[in-house]
Amino acid sequence: MELKAYLKQHRQTIDQALEDLLPDKKLRPTQLHEAMHYSVFAGGKRIRPILMMAACQAAGGTIEDVIPTACAMEMIHTYSLIHDDLPAMDDDDFRRGQPTNHKIFGDATAILAGDALLTEAFVVLSAQQNNKNISAETQRRVIEIIARAAGATGMVGGQIVDMESEGTQPDLATVDYIHTHKTGALILASIQAGALLGGADEETFTALSSFGKSAGLAFQIADDILDIVGDQQQLGKDIGSDQERGKATYPAVLGLNESKRRASELHQQALDIISPLGDAAEPLRQISGYIINRSS
Ligand code: IPE
Ligand code: IPE
Ligand code: MG
Ligand code: MG
Ligand code: MG
Repeated sequence: MELKAYLKQHRQTIDQALEDLLPDKKLRPTQLHEAMHYSVFAGGKRIRPILMMAACQAAGGTIEDVIPTACAMEMIHTYSLIHDDLPAMDDDDFRRGQPTNHKIFGDATAILAGDALLTEAFVVLSAQQNNKNISAETQRRVIEIIARAAGATGMVGGQIVDMESEGTQPDLATVDYIHTHKTGALILASIQAGALLGGADEETFTALSSFGKSAGLAFQIADDILDIVGDQQQLGKDIGSDQERGKATYPAVLGLNESKRRASELHQQALDIISPLGDAAEPLRQISGYIINRSS
């Protein structure tokens, strides 16, 4: 399997499906729809949808089983980025290689575009399931997992602790809380949704969940590292902003080298956890490596 080709192909599948699912830009209210399109199609690795597809495959399903759910996840993620960049939060000017949403559309529209993406995601989740082999109870469970992961005890919960911790000297437990919630929660939910929609039994679901926890934390540690050593052009977003804002990051607590070591350790753990899953989990293994070695 060639990872680069896999990522590209699956990204294109998601981009096409998002085009079909998002309200037309020309439809009223046009300003809102344009702002939603702007951030969704500004670029973006689509790593959460791709992880959902790969987890579905690892559980024995096919990627078609997850496409609407994967799009909904990307809509939630994009909303989280639009709000994360607002002046009241990280106050960043670049995202996905373009000016941030509020820089183009203004704060009010950016807030509303985020609100609408979050809400529309649940329209998609509740209306667009296309896998007839999945029971209504499994679909309900998937929606609950995603809702919890996005909310107060998930991503939003991580974001508030991230904000509260700015300028403090945080301990590792606090940074772990921030990272596993602000970022880990949506990544874990992506993998769990993929597992369930792929028909995973409880044992496989548990293994993929453990994989998802390790991969989710590793993803944010890598994000912290890239904020220091990354290339702004390649990343498509501001670098150095964590230090500037006194963010609670892994490197701030443990230093760069130890952070890199922990990320590798999490990757190794993730591989060990899914070793019983055989060839079907090969894409997940490679994506786990990509998460810690990526340059964007
Ligand atoms: C950035 O996520 C924000 C974090 C949660 C670390 P990504 O690195 O997945 O950003 P895109 O979607 O590719 O732009
Ligand atoms: C973002 O964390 C997490 C969410 C958007 C939920 P960061 O603030 O570190 O993400 P970047 O670096 O701006 O992408
Ligand atoms: Mg942030
Ligand atoms: Mg940010
Ligand atoms: Mg960051």
